[in-house]
Amino acid sequence: MEKVINESQQGQSLVLEQDKKNSRKLYIESYGCQMNFSDSEIVASILANEGFNTTNNIEDADLVLVNTCSIRDKAEQTVRKRLEHYNSVKKINPGMKVGVLGCMAERLKSQFLEEEKIVDLVVGPDAYKDLPNLISEVDEGRDAVNVILSKDETYGDVAPVRLNSNGVTAFVSITRGCDNMCTFCVVPFTRGRERSRDPQSIIEEVNDLWERGYKEVTLLGQNVDSYLWYGGGLKKDFEKASDLQKATAVNFANLLDMCAIAQPKMRFRFSTSNPQDMTLDVIEIMAKHANICNYIHLPVQSGSNRVLKAMNRQHTREEYFDLIDNIKKIIPDCAISQDMIAGFPTETEEDHKDTLSLMEYVKYDFGFMFAYSERPGTLAARKLEDDIEEPIKKRRLQEIIRLQQKHSLYRTQQHLGKIEEVLIEKESKKSSLHWSGRNSQNTVVVFPKENYKPGDFVNVKIIDCTSATLIGEAVGYSNNN
Ligand code: SAH
Ligand code: F3S
Repeated sequence: MEKVINESQQGQSLVLEQDKKNSRKLYIESYGCQMNFSDSEIVASILANEGFNTTNNIEDADLVLVNTCSIRDKAEQTVRKRLEHYNSVKKINPGMKVGVLGCMAERLKSQFLEEEKIVDLVVGPDAYKDLPNLISEVDEGRDAVNVILSKDETYGDVAPVRLNSNGVTAFVSITRGCDNMCTFCVVPFTRGRERSRDPQSIIEEVNDLWERGYKEVTLLGQNVDSYLWYGGGLKKDFEKASDLQKATAVNFANLLDMCAIAQPKMRFRFSTSNPQDMTLDVIEIMAKHANICNYIHLPVQSGSNRVLKAMNRQHTREEYFDLIDNIKKIIPDCAISQDMIAGFPTETEEDHKDTLSLMEYVKYDFGFMFAYSERPGTLAARKLEDDIEEPIKKRRLQEIIRLQQKHSLYRTQQHLGKIEEVLIEKESKKSSLHWSGRNSQNTVVVFPKENYKPGDFVNVKIIDCTSATLIGEAVGYSNNN
């Protein structure tokens, strides 16, 4: 009799332990590129299967994960500051465990555990499926690290849990890693070699998003135009593929076509395109489908041929102009944006002027501009001295930003008086009486709410603008609804 009671008591405590495990709270914070935000949704999904529910309140969390960025020193400093903050939260919530994910985890590995005493867990971008095991280790009081990079992990089989979603737009990752080895860039070291995801799983995710009411998908990769599915494996091993695999391979243009056909009312965008890998067939597929947005993020980094070479970018300024001309010829109203780096090692005033004159030629719709930040382990860090003094870098960056602002205003003004289709995403940050959405060119449009709602495609007449925003009024539903 006594034994039976004991057993059932034991059973009860096991159930309680299980309940506790099934109702743990995860707080996850993401920094850096869109891919990191998308990866956090994969992590949330993997941990949901382990009984973790996400919370927006860090003080309630059993587990805090920070998905980190290493692209510039400043990005890493931001994360270090957040770790200090978590340390102060731990005083209120002593049971809380802290894990570091993403590029800083991959770059610093177990060194993180020594440098930051608060960290219990370090997990690189290809090791998220190991999180359940790693968390068990942490539960048993041991620190846990997995930073192994993979040849074939694409998380194609994980259905992301959409975090902080507006319910209208979503990211779908299509490639991981990057083989381009731009000399300034840490990504090939932190995210490993390039591999593509099975197109079938991409289409399934897109279909599922449509069924759940999403209206716009951005296909994500470090270098999307290099997408190539031949049955799995690294991009660099494609040469070794069989004849059949080669004959049935799916490239980025094919993938875009498949997506646009699978969901003809879903809007598609993609990011990021490296000019050296962008082909005309991609632009032609964009022109063929009304539901592929007329917008290309086409980072160039510098307008100087000498600097482009030192950066290991595989195209010249002239080839870039040809690409821009072709885009504008095939899609006249296509918006183009840039990433630019000011003060790359050895950059002269003349090189900088080449950057400004390239910008003058393209007149980008908008851009993301940075001062060069040396990243340990990159080819530039090993081979070139970071020799442009900070004040000069800052001044050049300012000149680039000022010119971009002028061009952005020039571009937004081109929309005045036109009627454009806008997908409503959310309430405007500045006014609760206005909706905020984007047109095909990716420019933000705000307009009075009337009876419209998020997820509606609305024709909006553009009546005013700043350099970043178009202001308009709705003239009716577009026929895409
Ligand atoms: N292909 C990537 C680009 C990654 S990094 C993508 O999908 O976005 C994003 C941008 O950061 C780069 O285009 C570059 O302009 C900038 N960047 C990368 N490394 C940098 C460095 N060491 N210093 C300053 N800017 C850098
Ligand atoms: Fe970085 Fe160049 Fe790839 S910027 S992500 S190495 S395309």
